[in-house]
Amino acid sequence: MSAPFTIAIDGPAAAGKGTISRAVAAHYGFEHLDTGLLYRAVGAKVLLGVDPVQAAQRLVTADLDSDDLRSPEVAQAASKVAAIAAVRAALLDFQRSFARRAGGAVLDGRDIGTVICPEAEAKLFVTASPEVRAERRFAELSAQGTAISRAQVLADVKERDARDRSRAEAPLLPAKDAVEIDTSEMSIEAAIATAIAAIEARRR
Ligand code: DC
Repeated sequence: MSAPFTIAIDGPAAAGKGTISRAVAAHYGFEHLDTGLLYRAVGAKVLLGVDPVQAAQRLVTADLDSDDLRSPEVAQAASKVAAIAAVRAALLDFQRSFARRAGGAVLDGRDIGTVICPEAEAKLFVTASPEVRAERRFAELSAQGTAISRAQVLADVKERDARDRSRAEAPLLPAKDAVEIDTSEMSIEAAIATAIAAIEARRR
């Protein structure tokens, strides 16, 4: 079995973390965990009336499969439950053991390089301007058939950023040793190549 190698990819909503993480995981043959899905799954249960801490403690992998987790309502609910310390605590062990699995792991989220896996071998902090991120999210939601205006998507992105950055527990911020990649002006291919080059620099 090969030694653990963790790649932590953090950043705000719709900055390109998911696309970059999937491509990086495929490139290295590592497993990938989108940690936002954990908070989305808890948020979705809260929208159905479940207590957030109980939802987090009882979460099972099948809960992560639903397409409904991608909706704007669930995204806002996820950002709200993510500010609750006991919710974050309930999700910690699963993320930590995934991060240190044999064979290598890529995790994307908000606090992977700072809280979940400060010992990660490579850390990236992926950003883009709120306008660019909102435009990308708007295109994604429109392609899914979700009826929402550009202005609403931008307002949602800014609201989620503010909440994710200002919370007391594990706020969104770059780890000291993270490489920052601003994808505002980059193609997907360029962003992936920049990420892989930054990881290669850490592997040497
Ligand atoms: O990455 P995403 O948009 O799917 O995340 C949804 C919400 O979950 C996000 O607004 C904040 C929260 N989140 C978090 O607090 N920590 C993580 N590691 C991942 C997501």
